[in-house]
Amino acid sequence: MQFFLDTANIDEIRKYAAWGLVDGVTTNPSLIAKEGVKLETRIKEILEVVDGPVSSEVISTDVKGMVKEGLEYAKWGSNIFVKVPMTPDGLMAVQEFNKEGIATNVTLCFSPSQALMAAKAGATLVSPFVGRLDDISSDGMELIAKIVQIYETYEYETKVLVASIRHPEHVVESALLGADICTMPAGIFDKLIKHPLTDSGIEKFLSDWKTAKK
Ligand code: E4P
Repeated sequence: MQFFLDTANIDEIRKYAAWGLVDGVTTNPSLIAKEGVKLETRIKEILEVVDGPVSSEVISTDVKGMVKEGLEYAKWGSNIFVKVPMTPDGLMAVQEFNKEGIATNVTLCFSPSQALMAAKAGATLVSPFVGRLDDISSDGMELIAKIVQIYETYEYETKVLVASIRHPEHVVESALLGADICTMPAGIFDKLIKHPLTDSGIEKFLSDWKTAKK
């Protein structure tokens, strides 16, 4: 399973990339806006740190504008994934990017039918948002189970990138369901590793060691 960082914060990306466990990065307009830097500047900085897929999202809502933006993003690095919204224009843009050999990430997916359409359009990645579904008392993980089943049945090549992750259990459940990738905020990386019994175990080993005859 691949792990992506869902952030545009370059310090976080540098910190967790050093762990050697970050396979890629996803950004979105909200995450870039929070950083107060130009999108181009930040994406280029991320590309210096990360070799794997880096998603950069288009702002245009029409296919012509999306293609123009995406073609520009693709010049910045061969590992750029152009992120487009789950709309008819977004899916038309995916097909244009496919002709150019540019990878895509169809974002804001909230239903199995949307995921089916993204796969039919030939998206490289689809991003179902589990946390935002849970937020409205819907079941995010049920969506992942359905998408994985559909993609397996028809052998679609589109990969399932679980997004809007809120806690480590979202990651564990995604792994159990066979999702390809999880993209998560930096804090989730810490939580995936942390366990109080590990901490107390280390403390005990070290205090016992101090009393040992060496
Ligand atoms: C996905 O690529 C999005 O950037 C992200 O996961 C959205 O998460 P949120 O619902 O926490 O904003």
